[in-house]
Order: sequence, then C-alpha cells, then structure tokens
Amino acid sequence: MSFRTIEWRDNKVIMIDQTRLPREEVYVEYTDFKSVAEAIRGMVVRGAPAIGVAAAMGIALGARDIIADTQESFFQQLSNICDVMAKTRPTAVNLFWAIERMKRVAEGYRDRDLNFIREMLKAEAIRVEEEDQQICRSIGRHGAAVIKEGATVLTHCNAGGLATAGYGTALGVIRAAHEAGKNVKVFADETRPWLQGARLTAWELMKEGIPVTLISDNMAGFFMKKGEIDCIVVGADRIAANGDTANKIGTYSVAVLAKENRIPFYVAAPISTLDLTLASGDDIPIEERHSREVTHLNGFPIAPEGVMVRNPAFDVTPARYITGIITEKGVVRGDYERELKALVGK
Ligand code: MRU
Repeated sequence: MSFRTIEWRDNKVIMIDQTRLPREEVYVEYTDFKSVAEAIRGMVVRGAPAIGVAAAMGIALGARDIIADTQESFFQQLSNICDVMAKTRPTAVNLFWAIERMKRVAEGYRDRDLNFIREMLKAEAIRVEEEDQQICRSIGRHGAAVIKEGATVLTHCNAGGLATAGYGTALGVIRAAHEAGKNVKVFADETRPWLQGARLTAWELMKEGIPVTLISDNMAGFFMKKGEIDCIVVGADRIAANGDTANKIGTYSVAVLAKENRIPFYVAAPISTLDLTLASGDDIPIEERHSREVTHLNGFPIAPEGVMVRNPAFDVTPARYITGIITEKGVVRGDYERELKALVGK
C-alpha cells in the first residue's frame, strides 16, 4: 500500500488526516490520548477497524502518561481513559472491542510493575494494528472467490485501507480479486454527506490503478437497473446476532435496490465487527452527527440558514437483503443466527 492509515512510531501515533484527503496527504503525530479521542470524533481517522486500532493506541499513550503511586490509582486512571475513548463514536463495535481487549491485557498483569503494564499495553496496541492487516487479507482471500472475472462492483462509503490498518474489508475483497488477475471495475457511491466514497474510495483505488467510476448516491439504482452493476460489496460497523448490519447511511437503500434488481449484496467485515450480544439491528445505537455536515460543503452553505436537519451517520440493513457476510474465517450465508455463532466458535 502506498499510504499508512495509522501506525505507532517513536512512541507516537501517526495518522493520515482523512479530513484533508484527497486534496493533500498529510500525516499527523499524536502524543496524548485526548487528542487521539478528538481525532476519532473529528474523523481524522474513521472506519470501524481503524478507529478500533486508534482507540487501542490512544489507550497505550494514555497509560504511558499516567502518574500513579499505587496500583489502584493507575487502574482508576486507566478506566477513565477508556471511558473517554468509549464516548467518541457509538456505532462501530470495533471501538468497544478494542477498548475491552486493552482492559483485559491490563487486568491480566494487575499485580505487575506499572512500567511492565505500560509496555504490555503498547505491545497489544501494535498487535491490534498488525493483526488487522492480516485479517483484511484473509477477508480479501475469501471474498475474491465471489467476484466474477470482468465484474463491476458497486461499493458505498469507504471500507478500504483507510478504514482499517491497511488493505480494507470491502476494498480488500476488490483488491484481492484484482491481485488474482481478475478484471474488476468499481462504481463508488460518493456517500453524502461526508463524501467517503468520493474523497477516499476513489483516491485509494486510483492510487492503485483499480478502475473506479464515481457516481452520486442517487445514481446507484439507475446503473443497477441498466444491468451495469454485477455485485455489491460494502463494509460494516456492527453486525447483530441475526445478521442485521449497520453501515454508512445509504447502505440500506443500496441493499433494497440490489434485491429489486437481483444483484448479490455482500458485507465484508472482521469478526470483531460482530456483536452477538444484540439480537437484531434494532438495538444498534446509531450516531447522529452535526447538522453542518448536511448544510455545508467545504465550508460553504448549500441550504438556507436555520433549516431543520437530521444527520444519522449509519443505517441498518436487515439480514434478508444480505447475500453473504465475508469474514476472515470464511463466507457466511443463509441462517445467520446459527452460522455467525458457529463462526465465532471456530
Ligand atoms: O463514518 P465512518 O466513515 O467511520 O463510516 C465508515 C463506514 O461506514 C464503513 O463502511 C465501515 O466502518 C466499515 S470500514 C472497513
């Protein structure tokens, strides 16, 4: 990959600033957990797996800076840091998964020297990042099989290298098919209001020489009906036990259109995106973001001042619209309730 989304270097967290893409490729250094939390909230880093990695690295930075005389004080402050991270964004479960993983590591060494615990947290955060890259490649390997030679694949939002530690989930599937020598073309929905498709997906696919055509969100149905889309692959922020999937706002509309036009609709996500504690997608918390994302474009108003606005950042696609869920352990279809549980147990 010709860019790094997030890395731990010289005891700092370095992230590509996704708010400035594609205009400029800028890498920002973070040295304290509060600014990492702010970067997650402000979408300098975004995408479910990537914010999980960022949270883990933020916690490692925070633990390094804790001043404590006692074990109790250290663990109390660590718990406060985790709470700050947990309040950044509510929908992607990978964030909470990463926080829990870091807490478990610290707890496992509760009686050890504080510097040792700090080192273990740093090592774990780096491991979360490295593992995510491997997981995305496995998702890609499993998913490439469902992409036919010459296929045009539509994707929504950015579930690419930028949304993960690298390689991507939905774009990982496309990358893997491309690397396997298949001629794959991509249609990228622009993804209003934040434009992840236009700004990020188009940028990273063009960088890699994978043919990409940008369309505005309301054009997807037109191209599906004309027979120009063979398959849809999207990412996920949280998948409930019955397979209902939260992903970027607009995904649900794409899924319904896909069913109407008999086009296979796949979700690609790591196991860490499963939340089997939730029976269905109705229980997934949906983030609502600032109205300015809807009323302004690049700082310019595009709507009358004072207009009422709603801005849910995600929607839930019911499992019945999903042809298959592609994970690092294989592709699940049909009875998601049973199959997802079996997959986690594997
Ligand atoms: O608001 P964002 O940009 O964080 O939303 C991202 C998405 O919805 C992605 O599709 C999802 O996180 C999967 S990323 C591999």
